[in-house]
Amino acid sequence: MSKKIILGVTASVSIYKSCSLIRVLKKEGYLIKVIMTPNSTRLISPQLLESLTQDKVYVDMFSSYQYSLEHISLAKWAEVSLIVPASANTLAKLAWGLADNLLTSTFLALPSSLPKILAPAMNSNMWKNPLTQRNIKILKESGFKIIPPKKGVLASGEKGEGVLADLEDILKAVKPYL
Ligand SMILES: Cc1cc2nc3c(=O)[nH]c(=O)nc-3n(C[C@H](O)[C@H](O)[C@H](O)COP(=O)(O)O)c2cc1C
Repeated sequence: MSKKIILGVTASVSIYKSCSLIRVLKKEGYLIKVIMTPNSTRLISPQLLESLTQDKVYVDMFSSYQYSLEHISLAKWAEVSLIVPASANTLAKLAWGLADNLLTSTFLALPSSLPKILAPAMNSNMWKNPLTQRNIKILKESGFKIIPPKKGVLASGEKGEGVLADLEDILKAVKPYL
């Protein structure tokens, strides 16, 4: 049976790579529900991801068409959860248990046994910042699997650590849970 995957998408310059990830996972027959942070919709349109998933993309915490608590129903539906790309901001919120949008609320509501995989992407100073590193440590201790970013050319044109892991490495890290 196909695994049900929640894919969280945040406002990182690497957001376009989540399109390729969706295409690969769809091709392999997985069921995917995408949750975008409101900030991420300023970088790409939810409609683009809807055309790739052939399903509704979830963004707004308070816009339910029907009577349901979407963050709870999405958390119950999921069998595996990913955030690709994961911004420094969303990592910090998850580490500290904040639930101020549909993505962070859903992740806080996930069962503790459910696989939670994060692929961070950010500027290298943001990645190396002790605050981010402390958040990563907290997340690891709380059971999150982190797919570390790689060294490469950042959006700014500088070289450094913080580039989203390659799609193949993300798939390799996710596959054992599918
Ligand atoms: C074009 C653009 C690219 C950005 N890329 C990143 C990024 O790769 N990583 C990151 O942590 N923040 C990045 N930011 C900053 C985040 O968008 C910002 O911290 C935002 O609050 C994150 O919101 P979210 O976590 O709710 O999606 C970027 C901002 C812009 C405008």
